Amino acid sequence: MNRIKSLDPPHKGLRHALGKLAFIAGKTDFTSLERVENLKAIAKEVFHLLKDHTATENKFVLAPLESKNPAFTQDYLTDHVDIDRMEQQLFERFLALDGTQTNDEGHALYLDLCNFQAHYLEHINEEDVALEVEMQKQFTDEELMQHQIAIMGEMSFETLLLWFKYIVPARRPDENAQVLSGFKSAAPAPAFDAVLDVIKNELSEHEFQTILSMIQ
Ligand SMILES: [Fe+2]
Ligand SMILES: [Fe+2]
Repeated sequence: MNRIKSLDPPHKGLRHALGKLAFIAGKTDFTSLERVENLKAIAKEVFHLLKDHTATENKFVLAPLESKNPAFTQDYLTDHVDIDRMEQQLFERFLALDGTQTNDEGHALYLDLCNFQAHYLEHINEEDVALEVEMQKQFTDEELMQHQIAIMGEMSFETLLLWFKYIVPARRPDENAQVLSGFKSAAPAPAFDAVLDVIKNELSEHEFQTILSMIQ
């Protein structure tokens, strides 16, 4: 039987988000204020999700695991402190962009972003192959589901919408339909409509209709 993979949705969303940011940064004219503002708007979304994910993982993955297997969590907690610091430094450099930088300066930021991306991808790969499996070993699917409900309960609606924006295009239609069916039955209709509005802009018409046809 397929086990619940708590880390799979956010990690797919973050791979998508970081890939998009690096892709856009690579073709940005850093001397154009308009292009730089476009890049900064994406950077604000991506760094918000990165920060949110680490905090969520500390509280709803590593903290519960700590009570079962304390030796397992320390390296991840240390990595998270380093990652938070790297993210903050990089994000501040994005925020400082105002069109007065040269394209060589922009290229240096682009390369540092790609370097961070490489480091981050290694981090979440380690989580996917080791931490996810340990969570499945220590908790039942019902308990893992309770963690997910607790995460959703604490999250602001704006942040939830942002997660949908990056996660939905990165997952299979059946996975999306399952999550969206659950959301539809639990959330007020305007909230569900707001989610549909967000994801419609991120998908092809065919992808969007496929998911819609599978939602119950
Ligand atoms: Fe992490
Ligand atoms: Fe993670």
